[in-house]
Amino acid sequence: MLGTECSGVVEAVGAGVTRFRVGDAVVAFRGAAMGAHAAYLCVREDGPVAPKPDGLSWEESAALLFGGTTALHYLREARVKPGERVLVLGASGAVGVAAVQLARHDGAEVTAVCSAPNASLVTELGAARVIDYRTEDFTRDDARWDVVMDCVGATDYARCRRVLAPGGRLLRVVCGLGGQLAAAWQGRLSGHRVIAGVAAERPEDVQRLVELARAGEYRAVIDASMPLSRIAEAHARVDSGRKRGSVVVTMEGDVLGCD
Ligand SMILES: NC(=O)c1ccc[n+]([C@@H]2O[C@H](COP(=O)([O-])OP(=O)(O)OC[C@H]3O[C@@H](n4cnc5c(N)ncnc54)[C@H](OP(=O)(O)O)[C@@H]3O)[C@@H](O)[C@H]2O)c1
Repeated sequence: MLGTECSGVVEAVGAGVTRFRVGDAVVAFRGAAMGAHAAYLCVREDGPVAPKPDGLSWEESAALLFGGTTALHYLREARVKPGERVLVLGASGAVGVAAVQLARHDGAEVTAVCSAPNASLVTELGAARVIDYRTEDFTRDDARWDVVMDCVGATDYARCRRVLAPGGRLLRVVCGLGGQLAAAWQGRLSGHRVIAGVAAERPEDVQRLVELARAGEYRAVIDASMPLSRIAEAHARVDSGRKRGSVVVTMEGDVLGCD
């Protein structure tokens, strides 16, 4: 994605703007509109923009929203309840690290699926159990989960059905059109739900993530930070499928864009 979120300083405000003033530090989510690989951006004051949390770096603030808004959307769709068992597949990506923290914050017991080098990261973020996908197949595990959230497109309903508890939900964050269409009926006979599609972009989710970050309940994970002059390298890192959390792109001055 070409710049989905950013942090920076308000340079100018339109007539009638009351929520922000010139000089305010903010974070903003561009989502599918992208365009945050830029020195200047125009955002609506009632849009997905919020004051930057004090105490976080520009990079940490810029990386709060892409994974966070996606994780909030899917966990809300799944109606995760305290005490439920949530498995996050791809727990070390930008969406995954947010999902682990936000599910844990909602009182869920989180199992993280990632490779061994990322086990300590996801444990620190709140995972109670870690499964190394390179040596273990969670779909053959004896455990059952109320929610399986696939953040990397590595599974489907046929493979997960056995490990979904009664009433279980499979969240397919990465899923082609065929899978999205099938989600409407898959699992119904077994009492399961499959949820797929594009995450909503809600200003209130941006506000919530900022509040959680301010309270120390949620944080971004930064894989790398590179200046715009190294944008090709930044995208190559994202495309590798190996990044931990987010890759941040720094602009001239204090304006940041993020992938
Ligand atoms: N539906 C929506 O609205 C929506 C919104 C936002 C994002 N997305 C999609 O969500 C996906 C996730 O993006 P992202 O930035 O969070 O992460 P990502 O870059 O796709 O994931 C990278 C991480 O996943 C791990 N990984 C790779 N293969 C794995 C596997 N088979 N099992 C477990 N972990 C695995 C990697 O760890 P190792 O190196 O250790 O393997 C790496 O840390 C993207 O495809 C994006 O387009 C969808």
